[in-house]
Amino acid sequence: MLDVPFYKPWLGANEINEVLDTLKSGWLTTGPKTKRFELEFAEYLRRKHTVAVNSCTAALHLALEAMGLNAGEGVIVPTMTFAATAEVVRYFGATPVLVDCRTEDLNMDLADAERKLAATVASGNRVSAIIPMHYGGQIGDMAGTQSLAGRHHLKIVEDAAHCCPAFFKAEDGPGAKSNGAKEWLPVGKGTDITCFSFYANKCITTGEGGMACTDNDEYADRMRIMSLHGISKDAWKRFTAEGSWYYEIVAPGYKYNMTDIAAAIGIHQLRRADELHQKRRNIAALYTRLLGEVDELILPREMPNRIHSWHLYAIRLKLDRLNIDRAQVIQQMKEHGTMKARPGSWPCGLAMCSVPPVVWSRSSSARSPKAARSP
Ligand SMILES: Cc1ncc(COP(=O)(O)O)c(C=O)c1O
Repeated sequence: MLDVPFYKPWLGANEINEVLDTLKSGWLTTGPKTKRFELEFAEYLRRKHTVAVNSCTAALHLALEAMGLNAGEGVIVPTMTFAATAEVVRYFGATPVLVDCRTEDLNMDLADAERKLAATVASGNRVSAIIPMHYGGQIGDMAGTQSLAGRHHLKIVEDAAHCCPAFFKAEDGPGAKSNGAKEWLPVGKGTDITCFSFYANKCITTGEGGMACTDNDEYADRMRIMSLHGISKDAWKRFTAEGSWYYEIVAPGYKYNMTDIAAAIGIHQLRRADELHQKRRNIAALYTRLLGEVDELILPREMPNRIHSWHLYAIRLKLDRLNIDRAQVIQQMKEHGTMKARPGSWPCGLAMCSVPPVVWSRSSSARSPKAARSP
């Protein structure tokens, strides 16, 4: 019987040797390897700036902070996503405006976004940003997102946790050429800030980690400063020969910096990102071939002008053709020892946003209803 685990990182000799080299160097925290990882990531994604941090959640938080999100403002987020996409909005006392997804790729339904935005504004609240999340690693409607954002003056922060790498055609989104030429663009091209996850089960991993990418100098500076206690630029260099002992704390920042140990893994994972991608594409094609004739399933498919990262292969059940429900299907797969299947997403509207904010305290027994880790 085939046993498919929840995730299986593919770590080779290069990752292991680079970690050993880091340990032997004595420089464990943010330093030269993090810098190298940032530079190579910027080149791979064709972005001007990259800020390496310790999670995608941290990257999303820093992105909204750099844009100046205020308490009371609305931010459009998809309902079908992991909790992090919406929870970072709550960090500011702002409100996630939850939008439904479309069935063809499970990405944000922009017609619903338009409706929810109008309702929010009609109730007297400002909406200042939108966070598209590319479900499973397939880029959503970026031309539509760009157009919506342009009409309503919204900043765009992409949650690209599933997308290293994913691509879209230029004619179909930002960066489209007026002569109609088609060009494959990496995820993030043309938006304000794009955030990636290197959590253990992601397309490339550093165990825990994330990256915020932007072409905007001011956003980059602010995110870098706020990622390390609000200390003025290149804080890590203050302990090196080329750095200065002098620094200023310009704002109350966070402790989100990536360590060199994590970056050592990331450097080599990134260099193999295309190879790992090809392997996932082959596996997705195999699933599609093997499951194609199962009438009870709706399989994911690659949309026109998209290259899917295949971080997730999310199947949908035709419940009207089954006499068991989703939970029973998952349970039976587990009992038959085939796969560690799990629900694709606890809609984050159920998990955290349709209920009043949960106040976490040591004595409180209140817990957010479904804190299951999902995508
Ligand atoms: C869509 C999405 N956004 C954000 C995150 C958070 O990533 P991290 O664990 O790196 O903070 C995840 C993690 O699974 C995710 O699936």
